[in-house]
Amino acid sequence: MLRISVLVSGGGTNLQAIIDGIESGFIQEAEIVLVVSSNPNAYALERAKKHKIPSVVIDKAKYPDKDARTKAIISALDLAKTDLVVLAGYMSILEPEMVDAYRGRIINIHPSLIPQFCGVGFYGKRVHAAVLAAGVPESGATVHYVDEGVDTGPIILQEKVPVLEGDTVETLAARVLETEHKILQEAIRKIIASKHVGKGGR
Ligand code: GAR
Repeated sequence: MLRISVLVSGGGTNLQAIIDGIESGFIQEAEIVLVVSSNPNAYALERAKKHKIPSVVIDKAKYPDKDARTKAIISALDLAKTDLVVLAGYMSILEPEMVDAYRGRIINIHPSLIPQFCGVGFYGKRVHAAVLAAGVPESGATVHYVDEGVDTGPIILQEKVPVLEGDTVETLAARVLETEHKILQEAIRKIIASKHVGKGGR
């Protein structure tokens, strides 16, 4: 069993896609053992509760010190014996200590065709606003491994999504999200099939 911990900050539709993927049997040999939220009001926490997945809020209010916050996240992941960390709409940049602790075992879903519209300042709705402002004919979604950079790690899966005439940030975001859910499920399947991820903490 691959023990997955999911880091979230908001609505958690990508968390839901992993839950659904496991429940439907599309993703086998995996379970979500922990949800970590950087936001106490994230709807993702409700989703976790509904599916009886343990969750913890590790935010700036509880841990104003960046290092202490990182250490708290690492211990929570360790305690849950995490094999794979999924950043699913997690709106903080990971500290190098965290990347090092789970090197090669952290993946992120990003709502654009990396290396376009990614990096510092490109997150959530801002990505789609930038895509529309640039007037490009297509956008997309990318699942990649996380390294010390911002959206720079090796790409696992990527899929294009058309930008349609009259698109708003909301309509484009919704179309891209559907593809995110699909490739996130597929990426986790791919990782399980490759037996690439180590077992049981560090
Ligand atoms: C998703 O579009 C995700 O790709 C994006 O935030 C949204 C979260 O939605 N993540 C980033 O921009 C990270 N750089 P969700 O909470 O419904 O999964």
